[in-house]
Amino acid sequence: MDRHVGLDLVRITESAAIACARWMGRGDAHGADQAAVTAMRQAFDAVDIRGTVVIGEGERDEAPMLYIGERVGTGYGPEVDIALDPLECTNSVAYGRPNALAVIALAQRGHFLHAPDTYMEKIAVGPDAVGAIDLRRSIEENLEAVAAAKKYRLRELTVAILDRPRHEALVQNVRRTGARINLIPDGDVSAAIATSVEGTGVDVLVGIGGAPEGVLAAAALRCLGGAIQGRLKFRNDQETERARAMGVKDLDRIYGEHDLARGDSIIFAATGVTNGDMLEGVRFTGEGAETQSMVMRVKSGTVRTIATRYRHNTDGELAPLGSSDDD
Ligand code: FBP
Repeated sequence: MDRHVGLDLVRITESAAIACARWMGRGDAHGADQAAVTAMRQAFDAVDIRGTVVIGEGERDEAPMLYIGERVGTGYGPEVDIALDPLECTNSVAYGRPNALAVIALAQRGHFLHAPDTYMEKIAVGPDAVGAIDLRRSIEENLEAVAAAKKYRLRELTVAILDRPRHEALVQNVRRTGARINLIPDGDVSAAIATSVEGTGVDVLVGIGGAPEGVLAAAALRCLGGAIQGRLKFRNDQETERARAMGVKDLDRIYGEHDLARGDSIIFAATGVTNGDMLEGVRFTGEGAETQSMVMRVKSGTVRTIATRYRHNTDGELAPLGSSDDD
């Protein structure tokens, strides 16, 4: 895989992030998402890949752009699979809350799990606790093992959990262990990645979130040396059937990060839309806009944080991707 593709991916996530950041706090989740999707779709046209979206905006009939199976890129370059979320945390942008990201992961064909659009029970940790997690065990046992691996006392461990009614019992159980809880309104991709980035203060992510988000988080954690386990959670028979149709044979299977995102061809890029644990959100300036992104590759183990300044062009627009203004 050409390592320069990583920078191309950042240009795409920056483009999506800037487009939807303008919608921050406007209470319009759909408008924000649409802005990100349109910008991301357009930005793909400048990238030399033969890409197929495998984790995307949904099925072709419900998503006009970046739908599962859609071909993206110029049609030249490597044949790759793409997992993406033009705006992870639509509500965080709509209501001016933290941790919204524009995200893309890329891998050799067939290396991402084709996750159905259902929920996934997850547990994720950073490199220092790889091997300490097991979804078959209780949350108490997992947290004890993670604390031991990190040489923490349990009461020093910080556990991120999506703030949802379905997590009431989980929260009670974690509280009983004495661990600290960071209840997040949205964004379990960001929280999963945060477990593997120093200085974020997040040690473990647990709970049920989106399955496609589980694949994206796994791609990032593969680059960072962290770990995630996930088990699909179906809400109804329709979702179960859909999963079967997508090739899921064992509905109770526990997937590790290597099952969700295989091989060493993985490249992951994300740009902050609103301020978050790892990345600053888009900042508009008199001149244009500033973004902060991360781009990482499994093969090289490189993790880059990229700060980019965009300038308004003569029409007052931010220099669009692929234009001569954009390096
Ligand atoms: P969206 O941007 O698709 O709304 O996802 C935000 C998110 O918080 C994810 O990070 C998480 O995996 C999922 O929603 C949880 O789903 P739900 O909001 O249904 O609990």
